[in-house]
Amino acid sequence: MSGEPIKAPRGTFDVLGEQAAMRTALEARARSILEGAGYERIETPTFEATELFARGVGSSTDIVQKEMYTLTDGGGRSLTLRPEGTAPVCRAYVEHGMHKRPQPVKLWYLSSFFRYERAQAGRYRQFWQVGAEALGSEDPAVDAESIVLLGTLLELMGVREVRLRLSSLGSSESRERYRERLQKYLRANEARLSPEVRARIDLNPLRAFDSSDEATVVAMRSAPRLLDELDAEDAEHFATVRELLELAGVAYEVDTTLVRGLDYYTRTVFEFTSDALGAQSGVGGGGRYDGLVKQLGGPTTPGIGWAAGVERILLAGGPPAAGGPAVDLYVGLEDMEEDGSFSRVKAAAFEILSEARSAGLTAQMEMAGRSPKGQRGHANRLDARFMASVGETTTLLRDMQGGGEETLETGTVVHAVLRGLRELA
Ligand code: HAM
Repeated sequence: MSGEPIKAPRGTFDVLGEQAAMRTALEARARSILEGAGYERIETPTFEATELFARGVGSSTDIVQKEMYTLTDGGGRSLTLRPEGTAPVCRAYVEHGMHKRPQPVKLWYLSSFFRYERAQAGRYRQFWQVGAEALGSEDPAVDAESIVLLGTLLELMGVREVRLRLSSLGSSESRERYRERLQKYLRANEARLSPEVRARIDLNPLRAFDSSDEATVVAMRSAPRLLDELDAEDAEHFATVRELLELAGVAYEVDTTLVRGLDYYTRTVFEFTSDALGAQSGVGGGGRYDGLVKQLGGPTTPGIGWAAGVERILLAGGPPAAGGPAVDLYVGLEDMEEDGSFSRVKAAAFEILSEARSAGLTAQMEMAGRSPKGQRGHANRLDARFMASVGETTTLLRDMQGGGEETLETGTVVHAVLRGLRELA
């Protein structure tokens, strides 16, 4: 049965060609930076019990209220495609008794996530994040190190016009006290607020700082600031994080209006933005979540981490590294009739291909029935160093960049390529 061609769902995309190569390069960078700093790779399931996100991310957040892909499976369980990685990592920490390991336990991931958001440039319904979480230490040095690592990754990926915004939310108690003060302020100024902000005074008053409504922005300028109301311990923790960042030479702005879209944060919060990105300027962000593991049924365990959007890093990043890996040898076939001798030649070419790869060369073989001219064109497109045209008894080996050629016994081709490459080195 045929019909209209089927397209990828809205807000999703295929990863092809150069994009795939850029992602491989990003993954290699992230691995070397994070594993060098003691982070181990973790992968968690693509879906989790819906309750994990309801409890972990917070039931008043946009993510939980309207962005989750939730389904009921054949056994009647409510499951959700992960919208973020921190709650799953904390679940895994508890499930595998990682609190018994030397702390902090440092874990990193590069995975896809799902949010039902309005799709636009830089905002997708399936997207990838590289993330890092450090669990089990409340030392402000862990905060600073975590931020520095993301800064380094963005810098090495050539992300342009980066700014780091930093703030502290304090403990959940001081936040609760502050929340009440802010609600009082918002109610006293209700007439100046947008209907959306007004509707959220009870549920999520902090989001008022996030509004783009002009009158609301003006009204929020004189609102009380959480940063001014931190208790002594939290204020000292924040001061140390700042000091360490300054020692590390990291530029940042303290932004008291920084609001993150997830409920689990305590103390340090931060966000890297890139002005090269336009509306969706958040490249990566994170913060401390000292209450999350306990909230998910584990022992009291502090934690801090971040996640950065892979698509946004690549959008705001520098030019991609040139091409794919170089091709040492392209194995072609002489022009001939398709009879018994043709299949012998093909077998010989395939043998050369295997032999070249066993010898550690990068090699590709003609497999699309091109003419000898077409084969040469393709070898050029691949930027191949050498090209072999395999015939019945002998093989013509061309140096595609140096220009020479020689006729060889078919069995000696790989040898000759190895010799040629050694001479070039
Ligand atoms: P988040 O700020 O929601 O934090 O997401 C982190 C990054 O993921 C964003 O800065 C953005 O680059 C990317 N991102 C988010 N949504 C989309 C989307 N719809 N399309 C494309 N990219 C997107 C978290 O997810 C937290 N789990 C971060 C964290 C880790 N906090 C502590 N540890």
